[in-house]
Amino acid sequence: MRPITHTSAKQLIPVANKPVLFYGLEAIREAGIREVGIIVGSTAPEIERAVGDGSQFGLDVTYLPQDAPRGLAHAVLIARDYLGDDDFVMYLGDNFVVGGINGAVERFRRERPHAQLMLTRVKDPHAFGVAEMGQDGQVLGVEEKPQYPKSDLALVGVYVFSPAVHEAIAELKPSWRNELEITEAIQWLIDQGRPVKSTIITGFWKDTGNLADMLDMNRFVLERIDSEVSGSVSADTEIIGRVVVGPGAVISGSRIVGPVVVGAGSVVRNSRLGPFTSIDCDCTVVDSDIEQSIVLRGAFIDGVGRIEMSMIGREARVVPGPRAPKTYRFVLGDHSEVRVGV
Ligand code: G1P
Repeated sequence: MRPITHTSAKQLIPVANKPVLFYGLEAIREAGIREVGIIVGSTAPEIERAVGDGSQFGLDVTYLPQDAPRGLAHAVLIARDYLGDDDFVMYLGDNFVVGGINGAVERFRRERPHAQLMLTRVKDPHAFGVAEMGQDGQVLGVEEKPQYPKSDLALVGVYVFSPAVHEAIAELKPSWRNELEITEAIQWLIDQGRPVKSTIITGFWKDTGNLADMLDMNRFVLERIDSEVSGSVSADTEIIGRVVVGPGAVISGSRIVGPVVVGAGSVVRNSRLGPFTSIDCDCTVVDSDIEQSIVLRGAFIDGVGRIEMSMIGREARVVPGPRAPKTYRFVLGDHSEVRVGV
C-alpha cells in the first residue's frame, strides 16, 4: 500500500468511500459490544480524528497508545488494565470480514472456551497464522506463518478471549520477527489444556495487504450498494446501474456505469466512471475515464484519458504532461511505482 500508507493509516483507506476500520467497528457494535479500546501507534492523531469518541458508531472508544509495533500479544499487554478481567474480542483494524463476528461471539458465550478463533480457507496458508483442527471446531495447534502448514485454515484477524490469555502472554518471549505473537499465546493455552475453539467463515475476508486486495474489497462492497442520488446530476448525464451520488456532488456531461459511488462535494464533468469505482469527497474528475479504481478525498484528475485498477491518494493531481517526453521529471516518494509509456 506504499506510498499511500507513508502519509495515512492503512485502516483509514476507504472502501466504497468508508474507511476499512469503520466496517470493523460496525461489526463489533453489531455483536453487542459497546466498549472499544483502540491500540494506536504513529497514526494515532488521524485515527482519533476519524473515530472520535466512538459515539457515531454507538461505541465508547478509548485510545491505548503502543510505542512501536511489537506484536498482537503486546497490544493485549498494553490493554491489560483497560480490559481488566473481562472477556474480550480482539479485532485487527485492517481486516474486513463479511458477515460480521456475531457467530464467533455467540459461540464463545455459549461454549465458554478460553479462545474462540475465526478461520478461513486460503490458498497461501504460509502467509498467515494456521490452525490444525480436531473434532467439533476444537483447535489442536496453531502456528504463525509456517513453512509447512498443517492445513489451509488461516486465522482471520478476529479472536475472542477469556482473561486466561493474559497468563499466556506473560509467558511469551519475542519471536523471530521480534514481536510478541498472539498465535504463540493461543498455542500456550492449548498446551495447558485450555479449550480453544474455532468457527470457519465462508464469506468474503481480506486483510488489507495490497492494492489488489483493496480493489477486490471495493468491488465486493460496491456490488451490494443501493442507488441514492443526493447531489445534482445534469440531464446530459447518463446513469446506468446502481450509483450513489453524495450531497453537493455535481455531475454533468458524463456517463456513470454502476456500481459507482461519488462522494459529497465532488465534481465530475465530461467523464466516464465505472464500473466498480469509488470517488471520495471533494474530488474533481474532468475529461477522464476511470474504471475499477479508488480515488481518495480531494484528488484532481483532468484530461488524462483512461485510468483503471488504480488508487489515487488524497489531494493527488493527475493531469496531462507534454506528449512523448524525452526526459521525465519526478519527485517520487520512497517505494513508489511509476509506469511510463514507452
Ligand atoms: C496477523 C496474525 C496472523 C493472522 C493475520 C490475519 O498477521 O499474526 O496469525 O493470520 O494477522 O490478518 P500479520 O498481519 O501480523 O502478519
